[in-house]
Amino acid sequence: MSKIKACIFDLDGVIVDTAKYHYLAWKRLAKELGFEFSPEHNERLKGVSRMTSLDILLEVGGLSFTLAEKEKMATKKNEWYLEYIRRMTPEEILPGVEDFLSALKSQGVKIALGSASKNALLILEQVGLQFTFDAVIDGNKALKAKPDPQVFLLGAQELQVNPAECVVFEDAAAGVQAAKNAGMYCIGIGSPSVLSLADKVIPGFLNVTTELISL
Ligand code: BG6
Ligand code: MG
Repeated sequence: MSKIKACIFDLDGVIVDTAKYHYLAWKRLAKELGFEFSPEHNERLKGVSRMTSLDILLEVGGLSFTLAEKEKMATKKNEWYLEYIRRMTPEEILPGVEDFLSALKSQGVKIALGSASKNALLILEQVGLQFTFDAVIDGNKALKAKPDPQVFLLGAQELQVNPAECVVFEDAAAGVQAAKNAGMYCIGIGSPSVLSLADKVIPGFLNVTTELISL
């Protein structure tokens, strides 16, 4: 029998592809500030908090601002981002995710969301997954940003399982690092070159069975 009792899923880039919406909103802010922001630069924003994302963006543009100015910029970016999010539908759940979540549930494996996003609940509602997870830890509950393990440790705590009994699914290097810092097994979603610290990397959930977590 597998020692794994719970799976903790990152949201952006694992359950849904919201990275493209984050990118469009950040790119718009960069344009307004007078510089280009490329998809390569955007890779560095995956998994990190909104304010850290802004700091990285401003570093790329070689600009610096006061905290009050930065807060206004982050709010503006989030309003643009929300315009995309409010149009999301269940069709945007990534391929294979719903089948995999159902299979885990039917085998008694608990599932949690572990996301840095303060918009996680809204996104879950938009795609109809608001009642799916046994616990939801988002950027409002976990105040320490990935790679700090807090978000995943809180997930394990709410599910009442030990970190060593959890598998984390993550698409971002900072998130993989957070899972490893939490003492959890981590399966990367995406490219092995970006997610080199993950215990295993898969391209996505299509045709994935619960065999994957029989460790
Ligand atoms: C993470 C994303 O899930 O959430 C990051 O990968 C994002 O790119 C972070 O910056 C915070 O999101 P939000 O929705 O609170 O701005
Ligand atoms: Mg992610």
